[in-house]
Amino acid sequence: MTDQPQARQQARQQARQQASQQASLLASAPESPAAPTPKARSHPVHRAIRSFIRREGRLTGAQARAISEQLPAVELAGQGALLDLSQVFGRVAPCTLEIGFGNGESLLAMAAAAPEHDFIGIEVHRPGVGQLVLGIERLGLTNIRIVAEDAVPFLQQRIKDNSLDRLLLYFPDPWHKARHHKRRIVQTPFADLIARKLNPTGLWHCATDWAPYAEHMRAVLDAHPAFVAAHTGSGEAARPAWRPETKFERRGIRLNHAVFDLLYRRRAP
Ligand SMILES: C[S@@+](CC[C@H](N)C(=O)[O-])C[C@H]1O[C@@H](n2cnc3c(N)ncnc32)[C@H](O)[C@@H]1O
Repeated sequence: MTDQPQARQQARQQARQQASQQASLLASAPESPAAPTPKARSHPVHRAIRSFIRREGRLTGAQARAISEQLPAVELAGQGALLDLSQVFGRVAPCTLEIGFGNGESLLAMAAAAPEHDFIGIEVHRPGVGQLVLGIERLGLTNIRIVAEDAVPFLQQRIKDNSLDRLLLYFPDPWHKARHHKRRIVQTPFADLIARKLNPTGLWHCATDWAPYAEHMRAVLDAHPAFVAAHTGSGEAARPAWRPETKFERRGIRLNHAVFDLLYRRRAP
């Protein structure tokens, strides 16, 4: 249904409109001093558009304890200087970054299954952060670091260009209403940022259970010169074996939603 040419054309048109709105999201956070500063960023920005709403939620006692006692050992500040990932993890290894890990369940499973890889998980929801720290503690993992702040300034300021092996975006907030579409994190300026941070053959893996958002993702990424589609066929239900099921995915499946896995590889320059 969503593959109809008219729907695709509408998605492309919406994607173009949202790209210009989202430029203000990216302009609101200063880049690291090493990164070029486009003219737009030297002007004051009216209001940052964020891809999330900060919901504090209730921390359980165990989550609160994990945050106060264990988080500092694995936390990376959301803003500051560029990171040297080999210093952060104490070794040279491929690095995967997940934006919006939710309760951390799938990140934990991926990191436990791939001890030779390093993982950075980003999430603003404190109970989710606490839950992931508890999991790291329980499994004794040493290959995960956590950022408990907005992913956009973290990527801009702290991640060197050409340094990530994979960028994971699983079931990002779909922002269903048309007036909220500008909040969707997948937009052309955001794709520009990801293209810079991935290594030259790095992979961006998006998954969603919201068909119109899948259309939108495809419209943005199929048109982006830095990416080439790496999913099979239409990308629907093409979950690679290494992606565990997530909490939000299960919710979507309960609602009879189809799941879309969209994989894009960066084109080597
Ligand atoms: C719908 S949930 C999906 C969680 C998880 N990936 C899953 O599938 O169960 C999206 C999550 O992304 C987080 N998020 C959205 N934008 C973010 C941003 N810019 N930086 C960090 N986290 C973000 C939200 O807090 C929310 O927990």
